Amino acid sequence: MIAGTPPMGWNSWNTFGSDVNAEVVKGTVDAFINEGLKNAGYEYIVIDDCWEADHRVDGRLAWDKNKFPEGIKALADYVHSKGLKFGIYSCAGTHTCAGKPASFGYEELDALTFAEWDVDFLKYDFCYVPPGVDGPGLYQRMGQALRVTGRPIVFSICEWGVNDPWKWGARTGGHMWRTTGDITDSWESILKIGFEKQAGLESYSGSGQWNDPDMLVVGMYDEGNVACGGCTDAEYRCHFSLWCLLAAPLMIGCDVRKMNKATREILLNSDVIAVNQDKLGCQGYQIGSVFHGRERADVWAKPLADGSISVGLFNLGERDGRRLSVAWDSIGLNNRCSCLVQDLWAHEDLGSFTGHFSTLINKHDVALVKIIPEK
Ligand code: GLA
Repeated sequence: MIAGTPPMGWNSWNTFGSDVNAEVVKGTVDAFINEGLKNAGYEYIVIDDCWEADHRVDGRLAWDKNKFPEGIKALADYVHSKGLKFGIYSCAGTHTCAGKPASFGYEELDALTFAEWDVDFLKYDFCYVPPGVDGPGLYQRMGQALRVTGRPIVFSICEWGVNDPWKWGARTGGHMWRTTGDITDSWESILKIGFEKQAGLESYSGSGQWNDPDMLVVGMYDEGNVACGGCTDAEYRCHFSLWCLLAAPLMIGCDVRKMNKATREILLNSDVIAVNQDKLGCQGYQIGSVFHGRERADVWAKPLADGSISVGLFNLGERDGRRLSVAWDSIGLNNRCSCLVQDLWAHEDLGSFTGHFSTLINKHDVALVKIIPEK
C-alpha cells in the first residue's frame, strides 16, 4: 500500500528554495545514512520547485543542466542505490510557483516522464491555474495519469486548502494534501498552521490519505538558510510533537548536513516518531484549548493501535511552569482506571496514575506522554 503510514522524508524548499542542486541532494542522501535518519524511518528525498529548465525539450519537462549536470534519472538512481526513495515537484497550472514550465495540459506526458525517471513521489502545486478551470479536476487528471504509468508514486497534493482538499483529495488518488498555505520558521506560523487550522480535520485522515500541515521547520536556525526568524528548541519540540499527534507527513525542511544536537534529538526521537507512524493511522484531535487572558494551553490526543493513548500537553502561553492536566474521561477512559504514564521525549516511565495526569510545563513547551491502561 502506498503511504500506509504518513510519508517521512526531506524536501529541498524550506532551506534551499531555488538553489536546489544535485550536490545538495546527494549530500542530503549521505547525511540520511550517516546521521541515522534513514534508520529512523525517513525515506523520501524530494526536490521541490526550480529543478526545471526554463523550457520544455521536445515537449517534455527538462532539468536545469547547471544544477543537475547528470540529469534527474541519474540522481534518482543515486537515491535508490542508498535504499531511499526519490520525489519531484510539478504544478497543476501552466507554470510552477517559481515560474518554471508546469504540467497543465501535459499531465499524461509528465507522469510518464516521472515514471521513466523512477520517481516515487510527486508534489503537485497549484499556481498559474488558468481562470475558470476546476482545481480539483486538475488533481484528478494527474492522479489518473500517475495510475496509468503503473508505478507506485505518492501523490502529494499541494493546493493549500483552497477548495477543502481533505474532502476530495483521496478520490483523485492523492495520498496527502496540504491543508494550509506555506509554513515559515517562526512560532507564529506553527501556532497558526498547526494549532489553529488542523483541529476538526481528523475525520478526513487515515491510512493512505493524510492531511498535510506542510513541511517541518525543525532545525532551520542553522546558518545559510532562507528562514525568517527561527524558533527555540522547545518550540521545535512543540511543532514536532503536534505533527506526530496529527499523523502528518514528516518532511524535514532543514539542512540535514548541518544538524546540531538539539535538531538531531528532535528529528530522531524514536518514541515520538512511533506516535506518528502508529499502525492505527488515527489523526490526533484537540481535546481542549483554554485561555487565561493571552495564556493559551492546548491538549491533543491520538489513540494508538495497542490500546494506549498519546497525549500532548502544550503550554502555548508566555508564563513558565504552568500546570496542565489530562483527565482520563476526556480520552475515553474510566476515571477509576489506573494507567502507566511514559514521557516520550525523555524515554522515561513516570509511574502509575489514576483519574488524571498533570505536570508543569514551561512556556512554548510540551509534555508528550503515552497513557497505557493497566489491565
Ligand atoms: C508553493 C508551495 C511551496 C513550494 C513553492 C515552490 O508556495 O506551497 O511548498 O513548493 O510553491 O515554488
